[in-house]
Amino acid sequence: MGWETIREEIIALKEKRNAVILAHNYQPQEVQEIADHLGDSFELAHLAASTDAETVVLCGVRFMAENAAILAPNKTVLLPEKYAGCPLAETITADELREKKRQHPEAAVVCYINTTAEVKAESDICCTSSNAVQIVNSLPEEKVIFVPDRNVARYVAARTDKKIIPWDGQCITHQRVTAEEIKKVREVHPDAMIAVHVECPPQVVEQADYVGGTSGIAKFARESKTSKIIIGAEMGLIYRLKRENPGKQFFLLSPGLICPNMKATNLEKIRQALVNMEPRITVPEKIRKQAFKALEKMLTIIP
Ligand code: 13P
Repeated sequence: MGWETIREEIIALKEKRNAVILAHNYQPQEVQEIADHLGDSFELAHLAASTDAETVVLCGVRFMAENAAILAPNKTVLLPEKYAGCPLAETITADELREKKRQHPEAAVVCYINTTAEVKAESDICCTSSNAVQIVNSLPEEKVIFVPDRNVARYVAARTDKKIIPWDGQCITHQRVTAEEIKKVREVHPDAMIAVHVECPPQVVEQADYVGGTSGIAKFARESKTSKIIIGAEMGLIYRLKRENPGKQFFLLSPGLICPNMKATNLEKIRQALVNMEPRITVPEKIRKQAFKALEKMLTIIP
């Protein structure tokens, strides 16, 4: 089947299933083009919670589809590639978090959004790349267990008076960027600005001109007066940046910035998902209710 036919089928199936296609900023070009909405983890959670559609096709990784299922239990949530996981989310289990809570009973628990539903169910509040510092500072507790990304934990710790108790998780894609690469790029492109994802290692974050989440980087790129911007985030973001800023140049900071899980979704898988209404993502009700509280609290503090 040709691309055009697949696209037309998806559009017809979307209508038939009363579906909305939500895609993460790291998705491949063809997925970004067919999506109704494109966003970062926070925006996708928000959109899933507020859409009128009966079916949500979440083009991203499993935890994003789980968020949609947690926030919108009456909708059918489809993840076109069922094996699209997040290695960062898999660095901590609910049992491990329970043990950490036993060690620090006085601490609040903040989970980064890249976590399983079970881990969210054990957390007091969720946060994302766009609001981590604000969420931590909103809590009354002086100590905060922050899971699972150690780089984001360190970034937050430098911007709060609270004691941050981190977990040793990391995003294997963002972690690949090195301090040497950023130094080299500065030498080769002294006229460029460098924007990096907050999950990058601290030595990279310290040298960047802008640090944030994927939509934060997109906003920085739109507003920046500089016409050359080096991106320290997964390569999928470059497509959105080029489309939104035709007069500017974007380069990837490191060739290692490719996430195979984010690249696992394509048009044919979206079409099949809408034909079969599978793979469907559901969360057991007891866990869903607990995880809902952590996500809802975040959405209440940052609407
Ligand atoms: P954003 O929330 O910044 O889009 O990041 C999501 C993600 O999965 C990065 O690893």
